[in-house]
Amino acid sequence: MVIRYEHIKTCKQTGARLGIVHTPHGSFETPVFMPVGTQATVKAMSPEEMKDIGAGIILSNTYHLWLRPGTEVIEQAGGLHKFMNWDRPILTDSGGFQVFSLSKLRDIKEEGVHFRHHLNGSKLFLSPEKAMQIQNVLGSDIMMAFDECPPYPATHDYMKKSVERTSRWAERCLEAHERKDAQALFGIVQGGEYEDLRVQSAKDLVSLDFPGYAIGGLSVGEPKEVMNRALEFTVPHLPADKPRYLMGVGTPDSLIDGAIRGIDMFDCVLPTRIARNGTLMTSKGRLVVRNAKFKNDFRPLDENCDCYACQNYSRAYIHHLIKTEEIFGLRLTSYHNLYFLVNLMENVRQAIREDRLGDFREEFFEQYGYNEP
Ligand code: GUN
Ligand code: ZN
Repeated sequence: MVIRYEHIKTCKQTGARLGIVHTPHGSFETPVFMPVGTQATVKAMSPEEMKDIGAGIILSNTYHLWLRPGTEVIEQAGGLHKFMNWDRPILTDSGGFQVFSLSKLRDIKEEGVHFRHHLNGSKLFLSPEKAMQIQNVLGSDIMMAFDECPPYPATHDYMKKSVERTSRWAERCLEAHERKDAQALFGIVQGGEYEDLRVQSAKDLVSLDFPGYAIGGLSVGEPKEVMNRALEFTVPHLPADKPRYLMGVGTPDSLIDGAIRGIDMFDCVLPTRIARNGTLMTSKGRLVVRNAKFKNDFRPLDENCDCYACQNYSRAYIHHLIKTEEIFGLRLTSYHNLYFLVNLMENVRQAIREDRLGDFREEFFEQYGYNEP
């Protein structure tokens, strides 16, 4: 196996798992939050800063890198790690989700998806084989299967056909994957809110014996109870000796609640996206530093945070930088938000180690508030 999941312990209070995933570019502890570097960069952050905040693995995107700069450039660079100067693990999403979320005009066929470039409108085609070929060139440690991520809500009838196609595509991905000695390919469980379809999807994929499994099609507008329930009836059908990745989820409450339901890996653009319009995640909940009330507030963004931004700069200063659209402002807010989530997961792991993740959850939400939007 190219990657290996080492199980360290299970939290006696919640059932959450503490583990280590070993990859060709080193190991990371789980549960983990993976910052997103869509265009071969985590927006506003250098790789050195990513290491400072303690990021163990980052995510990038097949779809975007295929369109720009194109696979030839990354091949010439010697792969994505070298191209972006990041020597720790990288996971790449397959493009399945981006085709559905970014491109309005698309035509899903058994062979693959015909769609239009989200910027210039040109005709494009992605298939399981194409997504594998691109990711083989990128050289990510973990590649994702090419799937369909249906909208919420979708009918049972549509979802069933979609799940069956995603299973057939997963099989084609395994066949087309040419670097099994260097890169691990994860399958993606779909099925929306439907228990029978989630179970069917999980069983189909587990029978193909992937080195890890993702749960997709969540955080697409459904209420959080729907997501938690989907995790509860899906996770028991995934093998205990492989990593489990919940795709596109990054609010503090869903990270903690996902870990409690047995998830090991998470990713989301949320912390960097909201940072750029001046919104922070803090130990006391969200703080919109762009608001006028922070004009003369000389406290740090988060009084309980020991990140570079909070140790050195005030809300008043960052408010000023954001209002004047200075680049340093979004560097500081991005730094803090990523630090906050990476550090939250370190605290989650410590709580699992000490069998008190349930208590940690209560204490965290007492401070953070329960109404995460
Ligand atoms: N990112 C968030 N959700 C999904 C999903 O369902 N599939 C893929 N490929 N990526 C995702
Ligand atoms: Zn901070």
